[in-house]
Amino acid sequence: MLRAILTVGILVAAGTATAQDGEGFIDYRQNLMRAIGANMAAIGDVLKHGLPVQDNLAGHAGNLAAHADQLAVAFGQRVTEGATDAKPGIWDDPDGFAQAIESFRAEAVRLSEAAESGDLAAFGGQVRELGLSCGGCHDNYRKPKEESYKRR
Ligand code: HEC
Repeated sequence: MLRAILTVGILVAAGTATAQDGEGFIDYRQNLMRAIGANMAAIGDVLKHGLPVQDNLAGHAGNLAAHADQLAVAFGQRVTEGATDAKPGIWDDPDGFAQAIESFRAEAVRLSEAAESGDLAAFGGQVRELGLSCGGCHDNYRKPKEESYKRR
């Protein structure tokens, strides 16, 4: 059901956006990804150094779950030209992309639950699971490093 909603969301957004939004969409989705990356990195800092800021972990996990909910519309417009690493498959295979978002969302929600439980070992394990869902999407829908716009 959620998968269907996400797919419809992508199609509806694609139909209403205008061409000049293209650059803005690229910036927006990359900044969203950087926010996701920053929350993951912050969690990593807390765990790696055993920082006494563990009360913040639930907030970081909640941010990731919120960002998961923002991904479908962030990738709403098909923009494959310009300074972007998004592969055309995102729009050619909307069901697959929606599934990748859903996997990420489900793992982020589980991370929030692990944070609330206060069990740090379980939380650390779930961070790894969430990380796998990043890779699962990047492997299929993001250009490899060698082809990144950052290298141009
Ligand atoms: C549903 C697919 C998907 C998921 C899940 C996902 N990403 Fe991404 N990510 C992308 C795509 C596509 C791009 C390329 C966007 C572009 O360049 O337009 C990207 C780009 C990035 C970037 C580079 C942004 C830049 O500076 O250009 C970072 C960092 C990143 N992702 C981190 C993460 C992390 C960390 C996770 C998991 C916690 C994650 N992503 C989960 C699809 C995903």
